[in-house]
Amino acid sequence: MDIFRSATPEALEEIAEEMRVRQTKHFILLFSMGSQFDHLIVQQLAKLGVFAVVADPASVQAKDVKKAAPAGIILSGGPASVHDEPPPFDNAIFDLGIPTLGVCLGFQMWAKHAGAKVTPQVKREFGVHTFRITIDSPLFEGVAKETQVLESHGDSVSNAPFEVLGTTDNAEVAAGHSEHLWGVQFHPEVADTTEGAKMYENFLNICGITDRFPAHNVAQAKIEELKKLVGGKKVLIALSGGSDSSVVAYLLKESGAKLKGVYIRGIDRPDDEAYVKKYFGNEDWIELEIADATEEFLEALKGKTSMRDKRLAMRGVYKDVLEEKIKDFGADFIAQGTLYTDVRESGHGHATGARVAEIKVHHNVKLGFSVPELSPLETEVKDSARGIGRDIGVPEDLLIRHPFPGPGLVVRIEGEVTAESLRVARAIDGIYIEELRAADLYKTVWQAGATLTHSMHTESKGDGAGLGHVVALWAVWSVNGFTARFAQLPYEFLDKVSRRITNEVREVGAIVYRISDKPPATIEWG
Ligand code: XMP
Repeated sequence: MDIFRSATPEALEEIAEEMRVRQTKHFILLFSMGSQFDHLIVQQLAKLGVFAVVADPASVQAKDVKKAAPAGIILSGGPASVHDEPPPFDNAIFDLGIPTLGVCLGFQMWAKHAGAKVTPQVKREFGVHTFRITIDSPLFEGVAKETQVLESHGDSVSNAPFEVLGTTDNAEVAAGHSEHLWGVQFHPEVADTTEGAKMYENFLNICGITDRFPAHNVAQAKIEELKKLVGGKKVLIALSGGSDSSVVAYLLKESGAKLKGVYIRGIDRPDDEAYVKKYFGNEDWIELEIADATEEFLEALKGKTSMRDKRLAMRGVYKDVLEEKIKDFGADFIAQGTLYTDVRESGHGHATGARVAEIKVHHNVKLGFSVPELSPLETEVKDSARGIGRDIGVPEDLLIRHPFPGPGLVVRIEGEVTAESLRVARAIDGIYIEELRAADLYKTVWQAGATLTHSMHTESKGDGAGLGHVVALWAVWSVNGFTARFAQLPYEFLDKVSRRITNEVREVGAIVYRISDKPPATIEWG
């Protein structure tokens, strides 16, 4: 389904066709204002059996919305601010009488239109807060009077000439209602908003959406699509030993493609290669090649110190190695385990006119290979990709592996990446992960990592005094990486890991543990 930009006969026919297929009379029009969480709204609606059409706020006018006649409208959050950089939007859409839910920026937009004050807050609200319901309303039916919500905004709403439905410590108007307009300052689509799904369900009831299309088997649909595209053709797949590329390999296995897997060595951890060899090295449905690109990576990374430059350098080598393997194999396609998270966080994602904040350069997004790229998980996030994997029999051992970033240890080493710093980063990671497994904590955290910082700490080891690197350990609890909480690992565990690392890795002077959530921090150090 294309982005809805105006009510052309073709666009209206496309929506009508989707509704016929899904046997529904209703859809939600989602104005994507550029938040990283937009896709989670679509997923949330899909889980509730409702079809969402993503609309471009820069081009869709009230007359287009009237013609399309959605049952409800949702305006997402986004990086813009309504007072210094108002996002493009036709405010007449708020006056159409169609039930509308504004999320964060989307709420601030209609609140301002309705006459409330929207101003930059002294204290920005980031992270999980307690939301207190002050007035009963259909939007919060069945929701506890006090509930946890995730907020990520710097503007506050005040002087509301409408009903205030609830507050948080830093937001006197955390939810509001005026006739057909509903709004929340927080993000009900993320897992940290514990009763968010209920709030979307309630909004769909407010919209009067009764017929829901049956949930279809996502894995089967993907396999059917792949069969049509690649049946019998040659596909090269980049394998990392992690869950995403493994799920893609298994999807392709079912599609009847001739498969070759390539594992690129150089900025990885030793157990990544071990996993790839174990699960893909002796299979009759996939041929495996290990490509050692250590020299190429070190050469490209020489002298580079900023994370962005290092990511770009890494991308270049990654692309060159795969391009060479595409030629050797005579591949018709290249497949990767790119997730929606990767696409969105690189500033791509729903191509609407709203500005999308570029967060970081990912190694595997829009590389422009000489053959078409297949990214069957591009519409999924980590947890849904794992769900697909389970559906098609990917070994659990592979599925539960922590995510590991494509640029590998490059993003876990501050400053220049050298053979020496890679050796140290591998040793630290090895101890940390080994201890997490030994303490039965590996499965309880979503991801854990160790960053070799270039801060130096004085140390007194044995007789001599000197300087050693500060190592930052981190671990997070998350559902899909969009948001994360720092994992509260036991002190005894941290104590043990810290002692082992400082004793066994000569170059390390001190260990710290990171206790920031995402947002505001990201999961990786840089
Ligand atoms: P952040 O640091 O953005 O991480 O909060 C979210 C998830 O994405 C992984 N990550 C990356 N994965 N290329 C990747 O393939 C990258 O450049 C990259 N940066 C972060 C990160 O490990 C976490 O799971």
